[in-house]
Amino acid sequence: MRLNDCFTRGLISILSIVIFVAIGNESRADNGKSAKDIVATVCAECHRHSGTPSSRFELKAPDLMWAGVKYQRGWLLRWLEGKEENLYPNGYRWDKSQGQFRHMALSSKEAISVADYFEKNLLDSRVQKGVFNLKNLTEREVAFGESLFKDFSCFGCHQIKEGGKKAGGPISVTLYGAGKRYNLDWLYRFAVNPQDFTPHSGEYLADLTSLQVRYLLGYLMVQGVEGYKYYEPWKSEYFKNAVAERGAKTYKTYCAQCHGFKGEGDGPGAAGLDPKPAVHAKMPLSDMPDDYLYNVIYYGGKSAAKSPSMPDWGLTIPPQDFADLLAYLKKTFKGE
Ligand code: HEC
Ligand code: HEC
Ligand code: HEC
Repeated sequence: MRLNDCFTRGLISILSIVIFVAIGNESRADNGKSAKDIVATVCAECHRHSGTPSSRFELKAPDLMWAGVKYQRGWLLRWLEGKEENLYPNGYRWDKSQGQFRHMALSSKEAISVADYFEKNLLDSRVQKGVFNLKNLTEREVAFGESLFKDFSCFGCHQIKEGGKKAGGPISVTLYGAGKRYNLDWLYRFAVNPQDFTPHSGEYLADLTSLQVRYLLGYLMVQGVEGYKYYEPWKSEYFKNAVAERGAKTYKTYCAQCHGFKGEGDGPGAAGLDPKPAVHAKMPLSDMPDDYLYNVIYYGGKSAAKSPSMPDWGLTIPPQDFADLLAYLKKTFKGE
């Protein structure tokens, strides 16, 4: 190798490192403006990228200091390109009656570089990856979340869709597309204490139990998601491996006290109850749909508009024992 050659190669590799670093740092969009410039000059006219939570009436637009962890990237790109529906039905500042707001749109290259910039710079150390998950979310849990959404007044201020139609008070952000918009890590942290992000005028989220948070966030995260794949416990491995004989023991431990050892409805607990515990011996449990039987035992009588004296066993009986128990019920109680 000649010295000259060696020098040229060295120069080329140094140059390419310099260029690579320059591109990496600036992530220039197609009009030559860096994402950083766009955010600092254009977006900052309306949005804040640092500071502490503040009332909507002191802001022009939603805060973006945590924008790098708040959204799903696909949604963010569509939003920045002007391909998403507005979030605030009456405008962010409805008090100023600005009417339907048209958000500025970026080219797709600009949108990508702004999203990259957000993901690198607008982070929030309070939002932790994976501390909360929605693994094994069932349709039943989502149905509970839907009730909570109404019970806790969310419906009074946030729109969702019912039968394809928008419903709910259009006060704050719409939530019918929530499952395609939010990063779950952010949404969970918001639920822990909404005040950390906005002087939320409906401070209900902070008042939920951890199970209710799961139901409610489960409900929000399926909004707008087509064909969400729910977990069906009765199709799980536990049920494939279920052994009815083992279930007999669980029945004796937890059910006989009310339903009686033979399912005659004559356990000691039955005396003081009205309605009386079901007489399993006369019920064709073998023919009951798996999901119904599972849910009424897992979530209790109240979940099926039955007596709340029929307890929920989901947190007491471990999954394999639960599957064994159901196998026992189906094998043993076939009606009269
Ligand atoms: C003229 C003011 C204005 C400018 C400039 C502006 N925005 Fe916005 N932005 C808004 C308003 C108002 C909303 C709420 C829109 C609605 O009602 O849905 C919003 C919403 C958003 C949202 C969703 C916020 C959320 O969490 O709900 C994002 C993300 C966003 N803008 C990013 C940007 C970026 C990036 C720029 C610069 C390229 C930018 N905006 C420029 C006014 C502005
Ligand atoms: C009295 C009205 C009201 C009620 C009730 C209410 N909210 Fe809110 N919500 C707000 C306001 C106001 C904000 C802050 C954003 C804004 O300025 O509109 C907000 C913000 C949010 C956000 C974050 C929005 C974003 O993208 O930044 C979520 C998620 C949310 N609420 C969910 C809920 C849920 C779930 C409930 C019920 C447990 C609920 N809210 C009850 C008014 C309400
Ligand atoms: C504290 C008393 C009590 C215990 C313990 C109890 N149950 Fe029940 N159960 C009831 C009562 C009361 C009803 C009747 C509810 C009604 O008709 O409104 C009932 C009804 C049922 C039904 C019928 C539901 C229907 O659709 O009609 C099933 C199945 C059932 N229980 C299974 C179980 C199993 C399995 C266990 C044990 C893991 C158990 N129960 C433990 C009180 C109890």
